[in-house]
Amino acid sequence: MPRLGVNIDHVATIRQARRTIEPDPIWAAALAELGGADAITFHLREDRRHIHDRDARLLKETVHVKLNFECACTKEMIDFAIELKPTDALLVPESRQEITTEGGLNVVAKQSDVRRAIERLHSAGISVSLFIDPDIAQIAAAQSAGADSVELHTGSYALAKPGPSRAEQLQIFRQACEVTVKHGLQLHAGHGLTYANVRLIAQIPEMRELNIGHSIVSRAVMVGMSQAVREMKALVVTADE
Ligand code: PXP
Repeated sequence: MPRLGVNIDHVATIRQARRTIEPDPIWAAALAELGGADAITFHLREDRRHIHDRDARLLKETVHVKLNFECACTKEMIDFAIELKPTDALLVPESRQEITTEGGLNVVAKQSDVRRAIERLHSAGISVSLFIDPDIAQIAAAQSAGADSVELHTGSYALAKPGPSRAEQLQIFRQACEVTVKHGLQLHAGHGLTYANVRLIAQIPEMRELNIGHSIVSRAVMVGMSQAVREMKALVVTADE
């Protein structure tokens, strides 16, 4: 059974919509732990559009399960990771224009940069995962760069229409999972997983961790909405008592 890593970035996205103090991703991480999260995952982006440095430091102090620090493979971020000392560093590609991490890291093209980053993180005792497309050449490159695990990008599977095209993407994904395990890498997956599509990925026998964010934060807003309104309504209707 894979671990469930809960990505809390979009709690911070809501906070940053007003640049205020709520909702606090630190509270969300604690509640996710109470709900059974096996890991808390967050992405400190170069533009600090959601998670901020303060969040990263407080998460390190308060999270009691595995802590996954997702970041670009840049000197600034690798230095930050070495100071923070999360359980895992999850290296991803990053571009300022993208709405979310769009494709996997091109480890084939950036082999020597990635290898150097992994060596630095390993010497600080941090395990390294690479977010890559379910592609055989990328998996082989991740192994030769010295990664401990890879997170295979589930976006093509998640975006495919249910039916033959989803089945085809699942088949491609499963083959990549087998190749990952044959290369001696721990198998993780994520991106675009939802309550509707997660089970076929969670069933893959060698799967060790799933990282899921947007769908869980979206569900939390919906299942919490009536309670939140009841509490505000009670304040409004009793205001002159
Ligand atoms: N894994 C990685 C590497 C990601 O960049 C993201 C998105 O932040 C996720 C998993 C979670 O994706 P989603 O928000 O679509 O569940």
